Amino acid sequence: MKNMPEEKGPYILVTGGAGFIGSNFIPYFMSTHPDYRIINLDILGYAANTDNLKELAGNPRYQLVKGDVCSGNC
Ligand SMILES: NC(=O)c1ccc[n+]([C@@H]2O[C@H](COP(=O)([O-])OP(=O)(O)OC[C@H]3O[C@@H](n4cnc5c(N)ncnc54)[C@H](O)[C@@H]3O)[C@@H](O)[C@H]2O)c1
Repeated sequence: MKNMPEEKGPYILVTGGAGFIGSNFIPYFMSTHPDYRIINLDILGYAANTDNLKELAGNPRYQLVKGDVCSGNC
């Protein structure tokens, strides 16, 4: 996967992270796990809402990647 966060530490991949569950989970997880990085892979379709994720813009521990988890071409 391209454009991985450069900060050190473990990372997790969240798929559909711009949806209802993911967009609440990601800010919560990052605030409670300061050593982790998150890759959010989302197709950014009709169900996506990135409002809850705006506070993470520019955070080197967070990367939003637009892509289809089914495609293998992220
Ligand atoms: N206000 C509310 O209470 C509310 C609002 C929305 C959903 N819900 C509930 O939340 C649950 C669903 O939440 P959710 O977060 O699982 O679903 P969601 O539909 O909210 O989000 C799914 C996310 O996955 C992404 N996605 C879809 N296909 C993809 C693919 N192939 N590759 C990458 N990304 C893809 C979408 O763009 C979206 O951002 C349901 O139980 C629903 O009833 C509640």
